[in-house]
Amino acid sequence: MKIAMIGSGYVGLVSGACLADFGHDVVCIDKADDKVEALKAGRIPIFEPGLDELVAKNVKAGRLTFETALAEPVAAADVVFIAVGTPSRRGDGHADLSYVYGAAREIAASIRGFTIVVTKSTVPVGTGDEVERIIREENPQADFAVVSNPEFLREGAAISDFKRPDRIVVGIEDERARDVMTEVYRPLYLNHSPLLFTERRTSELIKYAANAFLAMKITFINEMADLCEAVGADVQAVARGIGLDNRIGGKFLHAGPGYGGSCFPKDTLALVKTAQDAASPVRLIETTVAVNDQRKRAMGRKVMAACGGSVRGKTVAVLGLTFKPNTDDMRDAPSLSIIQALIDQGAEVKAYDPEGIDQAKPLLDASVAFASGPYDCAEGADAVVIVTEWDSFRALDLSRLKSVMRQPVLVDLRNIYREDEVARFGFTYTGVGRPATAKDSPLGA
Ligand code: UDX
Repeated sequence: MKIAMIGSGYVGLVSGACLADFGHDVVCIDKADDKVEALKAGRIPIFEPGLDELVAKNVKAGRLTFETALAEPVAAADVVFIAVGTPSRRGDGHADLSYVYGAAREIAASIRGFTIVVTKSTVPVGTGDEVERIIREENPQADFAVVSNPEFLREGAAISDFKRPDRIVVGIEDERARDVMTEVYRPLYLNHSPLLFTERRTSELIKYAANAFLAMKITFINEMADLCEAVGADVQAVARGIGLDNRIGGKFLHAGPGYGGSCFPKDTLALVKTAQDAASPVRLIETTVAVNDQRKRAMGRKVMAACGGSVRGKTVAVLGLTFKPNTDDMRDAPSLSIIQALIDQGAEVKAYDPEGIDQAKPLLDASVAFASGPYDCAEGADAVVIVTEWDSFRALDLSRLKSVMRQPVLVDLRNIYREDEVARFGFTYTGVGRPATAKDSPLGA
């Protein structure tokens, strides 16, 4: 199959490289000259484990190329994926579809022969209809079908998620698209990954419903964590105790500083707006959004409490800035709100992240100092706060850490340590949703 991937950002690049690896002929297109130049020179503009090798392998095999102009690759393509950004629109929280519609307009003139146009970007219900209308308006002769095929990739695990998905969702209105899309995903299909065909609007909604449900699940356990703190219970044991029920499932029940990233905050907000416009409000998700927003700043108060009630004049060392490990993505990272809350309360903040410092710098207050490693970050600090659970923070040399700090206060917003193990080194410890005296539960942690 010949595939044109419009947009070589996170989703486009990962999907393009994986589809090339399936044996398809893929051209990844992006308007940003510098990005395409970098990709042609073998430099990957984002951090995603395994992506460099996958791109290099498929470029070498001649199956993956990069272009700035879309006319030729689209004309040659059997399938054109639209994988451009859909950020939250400033002001109203709706998804900004100008890039998607712009791409549809540009694609239209170049379509030759029967072509499938796939929206891979996360788009609100009804976007496929509009993409179809735009293409028809621009090029009434074009023979095409518009398909919805949402991605469910997690950053940091995107390649394995693409190659071993729980399911592939394909929304079609034109039956001719069924065979073509089955062919595109043939290696997965043969591998028994369920290929779910639905109507187009349903497929568009599945993506939002999935992300909203997961965001709600995280927010649920976060509220349980607060309740555990108030009543002296252990949220990790609660999570395990409920997660062993197959109907609930154990995943996405890690209490923490609130969800962030490029998908959950934006998609929950967009779903809320869509539902309000349709006069069918999704109140659980409205609440999820509000609770999660409040939570991020509440984590600042947690640090204050751990520091004896005030951080004024104190130095707080923040370990981990990205919204989760194994990415350099800072979009809607909880660290941003937490650090701002600490600065507002008079703290000096030093920060370290294994991959995200360059991305974080422009987003953080100019007073934040950046360190070259965890111990350097903790030097002279009155508290160390673990915000992101990078593997390299899981086995810190605690006696070394304590020796460089002014006060041995550890605030662990990801529960990667236990109170008893850090107390041995003289730390006072604050986790999330675990009473200070947390014992190992009979259920295990
Ligand atoms: C998510 C979805 O998982 C993916 O299917 C969708 O396509 C895009 O959005 P991603 O944003 O990469 O992927 O990250 P994910 O690993 O899902 O984590 C999202 C956020 O939730 C992170 O901030 C993470 O720290 C937080 N989280 C996740 C928790 O706080 N607790 C959990 O139990 C799980």
